[in-house]
Amino acid sequence: MRPLLRFWPDLRSRIGVYILVLVLTLLANGIQLVVPMITGYIIDGPIAHRDLSALWLPVLGVLAIGVAEAVGMWARRMIVAPVVSGWEIMWRSRLFDRLQYTSVAIHDSWESGQLLSRAVNDLSQMRRFFAFGLPFLLSTPIVILVGTVMLSILQPVFGLIMIAMAVPTIVSVSIFERRYRETSRRSQDTIGEITTEVEESIQGIRILKSFGRSPWAAERFSLVSQKFKGLEIRKAKLDSWFWSVLLLLPTLAQAAIVGVGTWGVVQGWTTIGTVVAGVTISMVLRMPIEMLGFLLADALMSLTAATRYWEVIDIRHDITDTDGSVDDDPDVGSYRGALEFDSVDFHFADTDRLTLHGLDLRIEPGQTLALVGATGSGKTTLASLVPRLQDVTAGAVRIDGVDIRDMPVNELRHLVSVSFEDPILFSASVAENVEMGAPGSDEDEIWTALEIASAKDFVSRLPEGLGTRVGEQGLSLSGGQRQRLALARAVIGRPRILVLDDPLSAVDVDTEDRVQRALREILPDSTTLIIAHRPSTAALADVVAVLDEGRIAALGTHEQLLESSPLYRELMGASAKAEAHTTDAHSWEGGRR
Ligand SMILES: Nc1ncnc2c1ncn2[C@@H]1O[C@H](COP(=O)(O)OP(=O)(O)OP(=O)(O)O)[C@@H](O)[C@H]1O
Ligand SMILES: [Mg+2]
Repeated sequence: MRPLLRFWPDLRSRIGVYILVLVLTLLANGIQLVVPMITGYIIDGPIAHRDLSALWLPVLGVLAIGVAEAVGMWARRMIVAPVVSGWEIMWRSRLFDRLQYTSVAIHDSWESGQLLSRAVNDLSQMRRFFAFGLPFLLSTPIVILVGTVMLSILQPVFGLIMIAMAVPTIVSVSIFERRYRETSRRSQDTIGEITTEVEESIQGIRILKSFGRSPWAAERFSLVSQKFKGLEIRKAKLDSWFWSVLLLLPTLAQAAIVGVGTWGVVQGWTTIGTVVAGVTISMVLRMPIEMLGFLLADALMSLTAATRYWEVIDIRHDITDTDGSVDDDPDVGSYRGALEFDSVDFHFADTDRLTLHGLDLRIEPGQTLALVGATGSGKTTLASLVPRLQDVTAGAVRIDGVDIRDMPVNELRHLVSVSFEDPILFSASVAENVEMGAPGSDEDEIWTALEIASAKDFVSRLPEGLGTRVGEQGLSLSGGQRQRLALARAVIGRPRILVLDDPLSAVDVDTEDRVQRALREILPDSTTLIIAHRPSTAALADVVAVLDEGRIAALGTHEQLLESSPLYRELMGASAKAEAHTTDAHSWEGGRR
């Protein structure tokens, strides 16, 4: 129950309206119980005495009850919808906020489909539960109890019959509950798996098609679907078994009331009106008793949904300000931008193997350091430490001597800009995508950033220029175009520290060269850590560091390293030759001009 009770603080704000909903539900659900009493009265009164004049009042009563029930149902729905939708939106934004603040390591460890299905399916389930399930779950037992009390007052024997029926009902409810809850958890987790499958196959559609592996994807999908089907069938089996018990018991009670009642009339200890009233009450009670099965199943699914929701909300914030929270808008101090790695060790959470070990590196303010290393040597990992997407496991990263873990996270992220290997654009205009790097920038600043990134030409040729929508819902750009927009996003804020993870791997050498020079000219004060594969990039840097299996293997200028480091020569080897070739082409072109 705890996961559901934890919603109490959220419910409290609208609790007055919600109590009104509960009362209306109880009223609409229970008022039918009065009808049998009136019927009994009509049979033993006006009918037995053949007195038609006494009939109109009870008939009007029945009519009024019908109207009250209809109005109650209508009002209940009208009132409850805006309240629960408001809650659903609040829960969903809380989940979204939470995901924004959780660290990259946590995101890595969760399947995206699990997060999606929690944000979508589980929260809709919660909304339905608070709109419908809970009010009925609370009012139904009251209606059943009141009905039983009424039966007992009418004729104690009838009350006893109902109570005798309650015992097997409670036993089957408890058996059902345990089994159903477990199956419902597995089924809801499987929805998460299905969501992941769909998501991956859509994102990877090009690969699947070009390798002709669509049948393979379909096969995998059908496997999880089969699993889901199995679980849903199991749920349905439990459900139908439980329902039939719930259906059978009231019928037995009814038969018993008819039998015992008729016997009582013959014996003279009860009246026909009482028996008719008793049978009718037991018929009215059928509906709530049957509904109990559905309500219980719904409550169990909601309990699972709530548990899954809190699992995400309870993820520990591991990358925070020193006080454990995250200040959205901290003061940004002035820094010169000296970036220092001091005996840094790092390993990923799922392994003890160190990806970076004992790493020492210092970049002076305004200096550009090129980091080169074989694939898998830990370059991207190193880059992700600077904006604290991951935290070091030993040692420290410092800016102007201040450990970055002692700065407010958002101050750090204001000082540091990053552009990663795979450039992600959002479904928004070019301008919005670039401005994301420095909210509030004007159009001139956006164009300057695009110019640095050598993206000005192609953007001005887009159908709507800066206003062109890109990203998933917009125009598809080439890999190199996307990289350049991502780079513009990184440089627009003129950050103190710029971290560029192979930012131009998809553009030609000429363009890369232009960008490099623009960076140095326009952002001379930014300390830059650039991960590079090409000698041309390395040659333009003030210092080059060679990373080998998580350690700095050599440090120096491009020329020095070419001389002294065999590893560096090897890394630059093939491309150095290719580069020499382009440089020739350059001078040839230059000569012609
Ligand atoms: N999220 C992760 N969990 C566990 N291990 C990881 C994770 N990300 C990367 N690694 C491992 O860490 C090592 C370094 O990866 P990293 O991405 O830093 O390499 P890289 O130098 O950037 O390579 P590339 O030049 O191919 O981009 C690799 O062995 C990789 O398998
Ligand atoms: Mg990398």
